[in-house]
Amino acid sequence: MIYLDNAASSFPKPPEVINAMMECMKEYAGNPGRGSHALANQAARVIFQARQEIAKLFGIAHAEDVIFTQNTTESLNLAIQGFLKPGDHVITTMLEHNSVRRPLEYMKRKYQIEITYVSVDSKGLMNPQDIYSALKGNTKMIVASHASNLTGSIIDLHSIGEFAGKHGICFLVDAAQTAGVLDIDVHEMNIQMLAAPGHKSLYGPQGTGFLYVHPSIELEPLMYGGTGGNSESIDQPKVRPDRYESGTRNTVGIAGLLAGIQFIQKKGIANIRDHELQLTRKILHGLNQYERIKILGPDQLSLRAPVVSFVIDGLDSTELGFILDKYYQIAVRTGLHCTPLAHKASGSSDTGAARVSVGFFNTEEEIDIFLYAISEILKEM
Ligand SMILES: Cc1ncc(COP(=O)(O)O)c(C=O)c1O
Repeated sequence: MIYLDNAASSFPKPPEVINAMMECMKEYAGNPGRGSHALANQAARVIFQARQEIAKLFGIAHAEDVIFTQNTTESLNLAIQGFLKPGDHVITTMLEHNSVRRPLEYMKRKYQIEITYVSVDSKGLMNPQDIYSALKGNTKMIVASHASNLTGSIIDLHSIGEFAGKHGICFLVDAAQTAGVLDIDVHEMNIQMLAAPGHKSLYGPQGTGFLYVHPSIELEPLMYGGTGGNSESIDQPKVRPDRYESGTRNTVGIAGLLAGIQFIQKKGIANIRDHELQLTRKILHGLNQYERIKILGPDQLSLRAPVVSFVIDGLDSTELGFILDKYYQIAVRTGLHCTPLAHKASGSSDTGAARVSVGFFNTEEEIDIFLYAISEILKEM
């Protein structure tokens, strides 16, 4: 199988990740924080080490500000539902995934928050000036994805962070498509909350993710109880990370995530980015040969995460995905991609799109086979 769906979850995982998870299962998966015996302590130590590695990678000053979650969606829900108060105004963009838009719309229905969706052009590019113009007296949060999961287009975190900082607004970044792909430094970029998956470009397993919360921000927890400590109290602990981590953490998954982060640190994010961009360039160049193919997203490679979505005139993307899977053993994502406004902006609401997304383990030969498959499919039409 040629796996070109790394933007959904990376696959395969590095052997180090699998080994770390096996070791955890075999040797020490006691309950972290629920006991003082050796296996509980070992589990807690590994989770703490993973927190520290995440802090190091993203310029986070205190490891306890890293909250482990199951995925980006949980992180975004904790950030959005935990932060916003009735009457607050939020600025966001048309590029957002449903993981941002739905909690925002829920908060609008339930607590009358106001939302401004800043538009993007047909390539998925946004003018930061449009964010600045949307500012109101009650604006409390800017939430934006670092890169679109449909168009791959990247936004400039530096300038938006600077603007948010100047106006005392919380800047929440959805790094689902960029954590492990591009450098992110929450301090330098003035990001107050960062939501990220463990299972995409940090090469951890599914069921892992995290939310960074700046020490000055107090969130309402999403869940209560199950924190292990302070058993006599009826109140949720004030200390982090316990305040936001109710219930047993995914020790096995986090052990894998730690190994995934160590893997990308060893390889170097810049080297991984070079490799992924080279493959992305090849895909873009190959698909660009055909008049029937419309490619979504920016023309400039440096403005893209390693994601290429495209539409073949006269062929439904779901059908294309089926043919690639069944006859060529190639996995791509098809249809609508949980981001209706980004589809609208790029003119693909009716057609959907096929999305090819590469990762560290993909090769030039695999891309050649993918492009050959596309040429054959076009010949048959
Ligand atoms: C931009 C973006 N945000 C949020 C999500 C949700 O991520 P998760 O599956 O980790 O909840 C995705 C998933 O692909 C995404 O691409």
